[in-house]
Amino acid sequence: MQDRTPRPEELEPIERAGVDELRVLQLDRLRWSLRHAYDNVPHYRRTFEALGVHPDDCRDLADLARFPLTGKAELRENYPFGMFAVPRERIARLHASSGTTGRPTVVGYTRQDLTTWARLMARSIRASGGRPGDRVHVAYGYGLFTGGLGAHYGAEELGCTVIPVSGGMTERQVMLIRDLAPEVIMVTPSYLLAIVDEMERQGIDPRATSLQVGIFGAEPWTEDMRHEMERRLDMHAVDIYGLSELMGPGVANECVETKDGPHLWEDHFYPEIIDPVTGAVLPDGERGELVLTSLTREAMPVVRYRTRDLTRLLPGTARPMRRIEKITGRTDDMMIVRGVNVFPTQIEELILRTPQLSPHFQCVLDRQGRLDTLTVRVERRPGVTPESAERAGAALVELVRNTIGVSVAVQVIAPDGVERSMGKMRRIVDHRRAG
Ligand code: DLL
Repeated sequence: MQDRTPRPEELEPIERAGVDELRVLQLDRLRWSLRHAYDNVPHYRRTFEALGVHPDDCRDLADLARFPLTGKAELRENYPFGMFAVPRERIARLHASSGTTGRPTVVGYTRQDLTTWARLMARSIRASGGRPGDRVHVAYGYGLFTGGLGAHYGAEELGCTVIPVSGGMTERQVMLIRDLAPEVIMVTPSYLLAIVDEMERQGIDPRATSLQVGIFGAEPWTEDMRHEMERRLDMHAVDIYGLSELMGPGVANECVETKDGPHLWEDHFYPEIIDPVTGAVLPDGERGELVLTSLTREAMPVVRYRTRDLTRLLPGTARPMRRIEKITGRTDDMMIVRGVNVFPTQIEELILRTPQLSPHFQCVLDRQGRLDTLTVRVERRPGVTPESAERAGAALVELVRNTIGVSVAVQVIAPDGVERSMGKMRRIVDHRRAG
């Protein structure tokens, strides 16, 4: 793999600034953001007053803990434009998060917000190992989803040649990669696997393509998946994190030289980790739910937004800004099987340690009597005989029991048996309510 580490002089000054300088900037911006939310969004004025806090009470970054948390429910209640802090005419663009149930969440951006987003995405692509002049194949979906357009404007801002493919039409994705020779691909990790399978089907060696860097996010993926992708494609696999409610992709990004969890772009987002049950703020290093406060957003400031993503805050390495540990799951992805908490990423890790099985899998939840059951449906790798895959499936049952401590059934199916996703993969299929 090529060395893709950016040179120090290519970084923005704030990416290299000391922690003290960063904290001063954060406090200044935080005070502005709280004031902006309080003055212009009736929801925040109400919830601040209900807790008896005022933006002037924020004299120190730790004071943020006194302010109310915001959840998805509050954003839904204010659907569509109730959380906006500027007149509707100043909104330059709208995006929306899909929302598996009911109303989506609408997010708005002023022109300035779009500029900030493009710059943060340019910073993210650079941290990933992308450079001005690179060809960037964007296979995140374009549309209300923030992935495609977020990646697009960031790559343009960095000075790349953007190839705006969007998701889907996998054969064509392969043709465009072969013919246009991009150095960088931006795509969900699950869809990348579908693209790689298609390359192999067409007799193209994925390790021989032009790709040097893959920037993967929008869904959880594991360290084992990183090794799988780096091995199969001979390229850097780097993690990008973000969410529509805060902006879109580019809230945090891994650095190619360390690949040790995404650095949070703390000059624009202030992180806290809370206990998901009590809401208490936890010290750095402890695992809990990530809560983010926007520091510069004009159109839609967000105060202490509960992301539902489980992680912990770690000290900076390649950059002074703090990192989040690679996200292994969301509070709402947690399956409870006979009292044991299980995340799909834990299953993914074990599947990837079983050479006969492919990373295409789903977790199917059922109810038998009063017991919940989990069946892992997983494809055997092409070229592996059904008998050998069956034995590997039985070994996986043991591996899950010994490492996670839960009994699951494993159903090994033929290659292509699990429906491919064009974007975010649906890992959990829940049949419990139907029954
Ligand atoms: O998924 C934004 C995005 C697009 C991020 C492209 C990265 C790349 P939403 O659709 O609002 O926005 O979903 C946000 O996706 O709260 C996480 O649960 C999950 N997620 C996003 N990135 C990662 C990641 C976009 N790198 C939700 N690892 C978040 C794990 C991720 N989960």
